[in-house]
Amino acid sequence: MKILAIESSCDETAAAVVEGRRVLSNVIDTQIREHQVYGGVVPEIASRRHTEHIAQVVEEAIKRAGVSYTALDAVAVTFAPGLIGALLVGVNFAKGLALSLNLPLIPVHHLRSPIAAYYIAHQELKPPFLCLMVSGGNTLLVEVQDYTKFRLVGRTRDDAAGECFDKTARAMGLPYPGGVHLDQIATLPDPKRYPLPKPAVEGEPYDFSFSGLKTAVVNRLHKAAQKGEEIDIPVLAATVRQTVCDVLISHTLKAAQDFSHKTIVLAGGVSANSELRARMEKACEQAGYRLFYPPLDLCGDNAAMVGAQAAFEYADGNHADISLNATATLAIDYR
Ligand code: KG4
Repeated sequence: MKILAIESSCDETAAAVVEGRRVLSNVIDTQIREHQVYGGVVPEIASRRHTEHIAQVVEEAIKRAGVSYTALDAVAVTFAPGLIGALLVGVNFAKGLALSLNLPLIPVHHLRSPIAAYYIAHQELKPPFLCLMVSGGNTLLVEVQDYTKFRLVGRTRDDAAGECFDKTARAMGLPYPGGVHLDQIATLPDPKRYPLPKPAVEGEPYDFSFSGLKTAVVNRLHKAAQKGEEIDIPVLAATVRQTVCDVLISHTLKAAQDFSHKTIVLAGGVSANSELRARMEKACEQAGYRLFYPPLDLCGDNAAMVGAQAAFEYADGNHADISLNATATLAIDYR
């Protein structure tokens, strides 16, 4: 089944042609540079850029796949969650295409796709497993019971881990998106020199909360600037990174133990973090768990993983019609 998949939930306009776990083309037009000057994604600009680029991106995906539109079996699209204006561009384009080609339309949940990226990269991986999803907009622990069956175990109550990295990195004067830069400059942590609050949610052992940590770091930097105190940014960056990794790793291992999972999967942009990878690997080795990292080329938003998930959604009877609408927030286990 050849699926043309479209993704426009945030700042990447992407299209891909996928056949089962085989990626025939994967085109990504990123807007990062345009948002960089503002230090974050500007939703209105994102929607406008998607509108300008989507037709070319889809055309390019078809060309690179070496197929014609008539060879397609379905059109898939990310419909939720995400920036509403950005999502609407992809959803409307996909609806038009499906209608004109008389093809089924498959709605794909944005947070299910990074899990499907594994099915492309690791053919041996099959549910059930536990997934820690850490991105710029989301931090959640989810039980992947089957390809289209999910159970939310824990989630962030406020900021995502990626947002905490990005905002603290910005306050440190690092470029957007800050997570990767913070990771690169971080040296050895020193929690005695820069004491930071441990992010925890009372009585909810699997939930996360990063806004207190973010505020503490931003306040520390402001105070230092007011007093003319010099902050050792690489050490502070390392301390922030260690604090975030401590909570991500301990929550994941607790959930794996409590719910008897032997396979752990990391998903989302923050899983590129070097400390998270190294420490998680060591911890899983000690506990006897299998650990899967996302394939780096499929780490960011892309449509290949949307197409991979779409095949499972279609098989499970998840079809949409012309009334499909974009939705800004929707739980991963919505269906
Ligand atoms: O999943 P993703 O590509 O996009 C969405 O959030 O939709 O995740 C992007 C996030 C950003 O917050 C970025 O700063 C973070 O992933 N990130 C990292 C690293 N690489 C990317 N955070 C920490 N360390 C990294 N090496």
